[in-house]
Amino acid sequence: PLTTTGDLVTRARAARTAVLAFNIITLEHIEAVITGAESAGVPVVLQVSENAVKFRHGRLLPLARAAVAAAERAAVPVALHLDHVRSHALLQEAADAGFSSVMYDASHLPYADNLASTRAAADRAHAQGIWIEAELGEIGGKGGEAPRDAHAPGARTDPTEARAFVTDSRVDALAVAVGSAHAMTTRTAALDHRLLRRLRASVDVPLVLHGSSGVPDGELRAAVAGGIAKVNIGTALNLAMTGAIRDYLAAHPDAVDSRGYLAVGREAMAYAVERISSMLIPA
Ligand code: G3H
Ligand code: ZN
Repeated sequence: PLTTTGDLVTRARAARTAVLAFNIITLEHIEAVITGAESAGVPVVLQVSENAVKFRHGRLLPLARAAVAAAERAAVPVALHLDHVRSHALLQEAADAGFSSVMYDASHLPYADNLASTRAAADRAHAQGIWIEAELGEIGGKGGEAPRDAHAPGARTDPTEARAFVTDSRVDALAVAVGSAHAMTTRTAALDHRLLRRLRASVDVPLVLHGSSGVPDGELRAAVAGGIAKVNIGTALNLAMTGAIRDYLAAHPDAVDSRGYLAVGREAMAYAVERISSMLIPA
């Protein structure tokens, strides 16, 4: 059934675990994430990034309608979340389309501007009952820059600043920079667990880990034990889907029917979702 991100994150936090949030781009992603979560027996968040909306010719509604329909029929609770958004118009569209939460990303701006802009987004979101996540201490790798630079020691969230930011912006959750980076294709990120503990102690709202595809299993488990309540994964699904399709087309050079390769791509993503879910969350 369709549920809310706020509810899933609150429950996960109370159980000292996390909820996994996967980025969806196509209908195959939606089906795969739900199948994988059902196999693992865990709730899940389907998230659509502003970049994915751009890929869908700027329209959220077709993918949103498909996600709502799939969520309503799922055997596990499924919530819909809008990810890494800068456009206020898109925040409104998401609310209208049945999304229960958004991640407003003004982390590229200087502190005062990030705060003012996030506070405005939080006021609007709350007026409509939408749960809102924001980011402080920019997590790298979003614009295609080298992930190596992105998790350099400089790119970190400061605990004192984080506390003030959450209080003043009134956001419901905070994405923190603790050593992960977006779009990593190797699982080699080393997290700063000491910083995570300090952040957990100074901020009351749930903490979110971005760029989790590049984080090894042990590090992810430690991050959840250290207080991460929402784990965002995107690239791992692209790796699974693209790898499976590449192999399929190499083995079937005469293939024509798109269902052949889409099916193996979807299956590979479902397996990736099931594997990481059962590794991280006790069902
Ligand atoms: O917001 C989305 C996540 O941070 C995904 O990051 O593609 O590196 O797993 P990833
Ligand atoms: Zn992210």
